[in-house]
Amino acid sequence: MRVAVFGTGYVGLVTGTCLAEVGHRVTCVDIDRDKIEGLKQGRIPIYEPGLEPMVLANHAAGRLDFDTDAEAVVARADVLMIAVGTPPDEDGSADLSHVLAVARTIGRSLSRPAVVANKSTVPVGTADRVRAAIAAELAARGVAVEFEVVSNPEFLKEGAAVNDCMRPDRIIVGSRNPRAVETMKRLYAPFNRSHERVVVMDERSAELTKYAANAMLATKISFMNEMANIAERVGADIEMVRLGIGSDPRIGYHFIYPGAGYGGSCFPKDVQALERTARQHGYRARILDAVEAVNAEQKSKMFELLARHYGGEAGLRGKVVAVWGLAFKPNTDDMREAPSRTLLAQLWAAGARVRAYDPEAMTEARRLFGGREDLVLCDSPEAALAGADALALVTEWKAFWSPDFALLARALGDKVIVDGRNLYPPDEVEAAGLAYYGIGRGRSLRRGVTDA
Ligand code: UDX
Repeated sequence: MRVAVFGTGYVGLVTGTCLAEVGHRVTCVDIDRDKIEGLKQGRIPIYEPGLEPMVLANHAAGRLDFDTDAEAVVARADVLMIAVGTPPDEDGSADLSHVLAVARTIGRSLSRPAVVANKSTVPVGTADRVRAAIAAELAARGVAVEFEVVSNPEFLKEGAAVNDCMRPDRIIVGSRNPRAVETMKRLYAPFNRSHERVVVMDERSAELTKYAANAMLATKISFMNEMANIAERVGADIEMVRLGIGSDPRIGYHFIYPGAGYGGSCFPKDVQALERTARQHGYRARILDAVEAVNAEQKSKMFELLARHYGGEAGLRGKVVAVWGLAFKPNTDDMREAPSRTLLAQLWAAGARVRAYDPEAMTEARRLFGGREDLVLCDSPEAALAGADALALVTEWKAFWSPDFALLARALGDKVIVDGRNLYPPDEVEAAGLAYYGIGRGRSLRRGVTDA
């Protein structure tokens, strides 16, 4: 089939590439000329494991191409995918201007029957707005072309996006039109071999499914962070509690890791947008409100632990803190809404200096914070320790999993570690002569520095 994918961000580029990989003829369209030129020359604008070789191979094989000329691409395509961003606007609602701009572009160029599939995360009711925008352009041209709008949300995770896309656990097709559903099933047939993964539903349910999935996952995390905060105060270890509850299959082990708060491009904006949608429909989503509030506080947790160790924020003045991990999670260079950013801002405000290292996010960190005198970007985990008083582990990259604690004890002036992901065995760290603070591990209580 011939597929046009609008938007070459995470979703668009990964989806387009995976569709080409299984044999479709895909053109990725973007208004950003530099990005399209770069892609044609094999420059991949994002770091995503496994993506680059797949883009290069499919481009070389002639199945994957890149273009800025929407009109020519629309004229050839059977399926038109909208995969542009829906950033939050001032009040936290999803900004649909990019999605609707693509819809109008499609309406201005459509000349043969096609299915328009919306992959962007969009509020309930957007399929109707996309349909109306395309119809208005067609009417203005005085042409009648058959088209259907399908809601087809994606569920890929950054850092595992290629795998998620090649091996989806479900494919949501939101449409009440049997022919459009048939087209989507043909498109996804190569991903749907071993068992039926396509779930067909109406557009609005499909749109809400995406928000509900992300909101549920964000809720699990905020719930665990809340339990961790209770554990800390009562002297329990949340890691034991996690194992204890995860063994119940109704709860499960996935996505119940307490930490420095969730970040990234999806959870924060989607929880907010769903909360706004609910409010616009006269309902106050109290669980979503709480999920957001707990997360906002959790992002200050690492700083709080450090400040407590130093007897208050003033104690951090002039200290040097090594920060391991800047990306919002491992295997990505993405720092959007990353907990590291909150920690850095709070350390700087307290007059501390930072030596930071991340395996992939250094370019992004330089773009965001380059030129600051209170930040040294280092080229290895060890380099970040040089001259540091304390260590804050923010992102659980593999490179940080098993440090030599004796070496850490020698390197760190004040011999203190704040482990924002509960990676390290507290007893081992303390045996090496370091003070250890994790998230919800009851240690600060034992040390008498909790405010409980
Ligand atoms: C998420 C959804 O998982 C994906 O299905 C959707 O399509 C887009 O949003 P992503 O933002 O890439 O994907 O990251 P994810 O792996 O879900 O992690 C989100 C955040 O939650 C990270 O900051 C991570 O550190 C945090 N997290 C995750 C926890 O704090 N604890 C956990 O147990 C799991």
